Amino acid sequence: MSTDRRKFLKHLGTSVLLTSASLTSLAAKEENEVRILRDEKRVTPNDKIRIATIGMGIMGFNDTNAALTVPGVELVAACDLYKGRLLHAKEKYGSSLFTTMDHREILERKDIDAVIIATSDNWHSQIAIDAMRKGKAVYSEKPMIHKISQGLEEIQVQKDTKMVFQVGSQRVSSIAYRKAKEMYESGAIGKINSIEASFNRQSALGAWQYTIPGDGNVQNVDWARFQANSSVKHDFDKNRFFRWRNYREYGTGVAGDLFVHLLSGIHFITGSKGPESIYSIGDLAYWKDGRNVPDVMSAVVRYGETKEHPAFQVTLRVNFISGEGDKTTTKIVGSEGVMDIGGEGEAFTIHQNKMPEAPGIGGWDSLFTYTESEQKALMDDYNKRWTKAQQDTPQFQAINYRAPEGYNASNDHFANFMESVRTGKPVVEDAVFGFRAAAPALACNDSYFENRLIHWDAENMKIV
Ligand SMILES: NC(=O)c1ccc[n+]([C@@H]2O[C@H](COP(=O)([O-])OP(=O)(O)OC[C@H]3O[C@@H](n4cnc5c(N)ncnc54)[C@H](O)[C@@H]3O)[C@@H](O)[C@H]2O)c1
Repeated sequence: MSTDRRKFLKHLGTSVLLTSASLTSLAAKEENEVRILRDEKRVTPNDKIRIATIGMGIMGFNDTNAALTVPGVELVAACDLYKGRLLHAKEKYGSSLFTTMDHREILERKDIDAVIIATSDNWHSQIAIDAMRKGKAVYSEKPMIHKISQGLEEIQVQKDTKMVFQVGSQRVSSIAYRKAKEMYESGAIGKINSIEASFNRQSALGAWQYTIPGDGNVQNVDWARFQANSSVKHDFDKNRFFRWRNYREYGTGVAGDLFVHLLSGIHFITGSKGPESIYSIGDLAYWKDGRNVPDVMSAVVRYGETKEHPAFQVTLRVNFISGEGDKTTTKIVGSEGVMDIGGEGEAFTIHQNKMPEAPGIGGWDSLFTYTESEQKALMDDYNKRWTKAQQDTPQFQAINYRAPEGYNASNDHFANFMESVRTGKPVVEDAVFGFRAAAPALACNDSYFENRLIHWDAENMKIV
């Protein structure tokens, strides 16, 4: 985003304790500012960015639509392994759209500047590497990798080719996350010590049982290519193709799919490079449809003290059969308050709580067990030592922030990406950030499947 916007946000960050009322009006101001900045963008024909989307499923369409909100972006090609989605891409974006089932044909085209990779997780890394080597800028969906062993190579290829590369965790560009980061850095919740973050869902779609098309058969799907990079090959199975998230061979389970969002948000706000130890447990509690990944998973993750932050603990949970209904939260707990970021990060609330200066006496205390005279002497002494003000618990008004109505973090994430493609300025979520979020998420799977504590060297990005 422009320096104007950054200046504006910086200005917000300096006003440490904003009341809920002032934040509400500031949200309106921000909405205005976002709109003005968009309108102000003057795009010349030279600024045109021609893109192709590889993996034209749910996120392929969503990402393409978000990318096309950025002025001067044009979709020229789409790639997918199911014919029906390529036909629909033509229906939606025009019959002149070039379509193919082979991503290498996209990468060979000289008229494509950038690719969006929105395939199943098993293909992200290889296609990203191929694309950067062919001189394309890359927007890679999360998780950046399917296996931890792929991360360092991908980072190296980005360094060698110097291609613009951004990971698609849109929280990193979200206006609410930026605001939350500023509040966190201003000390609004004191010294951080723990975080609870979770996704609760209670529906078949939420548990990844997506609709399968009637013509989703082996004639219309390139099944061989889909599983080309799997070590274990299976006969065509429409569930494996259209509901790939449920299988480790192609997806990364709830940890790679959802913990990675939570960790990206946490790393963004705290400035952390990552945890030092990871342990997780899992169960297949309800969706026994042949999947080989848990539907309820919990992890405890420890972040050691670094120059960026004090030591803190994180508990992560995904529950696909939660009687609490659908609810996503990240609750960051500090010594003097708690920041609760809900949903996809469009809003947060801060409740501040501070201890009174005086230690307290009476109530649930041993005081009442002593003789009457001893109790009186202790109370008199206490009241002499501590004033009424020192004895009172400080009261604070809750701080609420909500992004403007209709705000979409993915649009901003793409605006940031395209700005980097145009100007060469560093991306907001590079391969190092993407790997540092993905690796501990995938380590949760390794911990569960291997039943062991995993030690991670976040600085050097290596399993210890
Ligand atoms: N950023 C977010 O909030 C967010 C949200 C949802 C999904 N995602 C990510 O987006 C990716 C796609 O998820 P989805 O829900 O759209 O899945 P989807 O199944 O709807 O679509 C994936 C598509 O990729 C295609 N594909 C697979 N391998 C391919 C290859 N080698 N070449 C070309 N096409 C290939 C498949 O044919 C399929 O149509 C996943 O990695 C997921 O983690 C991100």
